[in-house]
Amino acid sequence: MKVVNIVNNYKEKELAIIDLPDTQPLKNEIKVKVVKVPLTTGDVAMMNMGSKKQKVVGQFYSGEVVSLGRDVKEYKVGDRVCGMHKSGTLSEYINISNKSVIHRIPDEISYEASVALLFGGSAALYFLKKTLNQKRKLWILINGASGEVGLIALQLMKTYGHHVTAVSRTEKFAILEKYGADRCIDYTQEKIEKYLDQYDVVFDAVGKLNVNREVAHMSKNSEFITTHVGLDLIGSIVKNWIFGRVKIKMGIAGFKKSDIETLFSLYSVGGIKEVIDNRFELKEINKALDRVKSGSKVGTVIIDL
Ligand SMILES: NC(=O)c1ccc[n+]([C@@H]2O[C@H](COP(=O)([O-])OP(=O)(O)OC[C@H]3O[C@@H](n4cnc5c(N)ncnc54)[C@H](OP(=O)(O)O)[C@@H]3O)[C@@H](O)[C@H]2O)c1
Repeated sequence: MKVVNIVNNYKEKELAIIDLPDTQPLKNEIKVKVVKVPLTTGDVAMMNMGSKKQKVVGQFYSGEVVSLGRDVKEYKVGDRVCGMHKSGTLSEYINISNKSVIHRIPDEISYEASVALLFGGSAALYFLKKTLNQKRKLWILINGASGEVGLIALQLMKTYGHHVTAVSRTEKFAILEKYGADRCIDYTQEKIEKYLDQYDVVFDAVGKLNVNREVAHMSKNSEFITTHVGLDLIGSIVKNWIFGRVKIKMGIAGFKKSDIETLFSLYSVGGIKEVIDNRFELKEINKALDRVKSGSKVGTVIIDL
């Protein structure tokens, strides 16, 4: 079976398609014929980390159950499923544990849509779950709203009735307005600092804002949330905690089955929709990787197996 492998233990940061023997599921595993995989900024981050253990790329999948280990009772052959698989999903077949993050895909959701919600949707929920559920209408500014995380964050905030300002480039305003942005700001034309005191929450979905500089412009008791993970944030977090000014949140998103349930429920009632940047065939995997590494995609890059 064909598998996308990292050449030279990640050092080359290139991907190659290799042939590996097909294996049967263990007693608690489900064998899935993979149909669609999103190639994400998370995959690029994993590649850059240089783990020698993981060679197969891809964290999420959607596909059809083709066989079951003898102890698996909750799924059947032919089920359409999606989920997360830490050992790599860019493979024609994967054997996944029945204890992993796996979910049956509802009939009204395609393989592509299901998988396009997983990375951006789980990350957006991780960072914004508490914010979404606030009773009063919040004013939120989303930086990097055109990305995979940003576009789902924008739709979630709108579905829950909040006011959203999307920061992006002018040529991307039309798509941001289509997904509900109340106001758009072009970061290449304007400094956003002058607007920051108007917001209850600033979500830096692309993780490129300078936290020290930006929080100084925000109102007391507002919140700054960022996808960026780094020791450079610790000083700001401690300072703002001591002086009780702006609450700063960072972290590494976890991927939970309950989040997939939330995303599918919202999708089914029209509350969120997948946004596809580009689709690639397996043989075009390095073109897909270049697109993800560009840092400029609009939504999700899908690999068609
Ligand atoms: N901490 C976590 O657990 C976690 C989880 C998920 C993602 N992340 C991180 O979150 C970041 C975003 O991920 P993603 O998948 O959404 O990325 P993405 O799909 O590549 O999107 C990034 C978007 O931001 C825009 N952008 C680039 N520079 C910008 C800037 N200075 N100001 C405003 N917008 C800008 C890009 O468009 P233009 O270049 O055309 O402006 C692009 O549309 C990545 O760094 C990823 O590693 C972290």
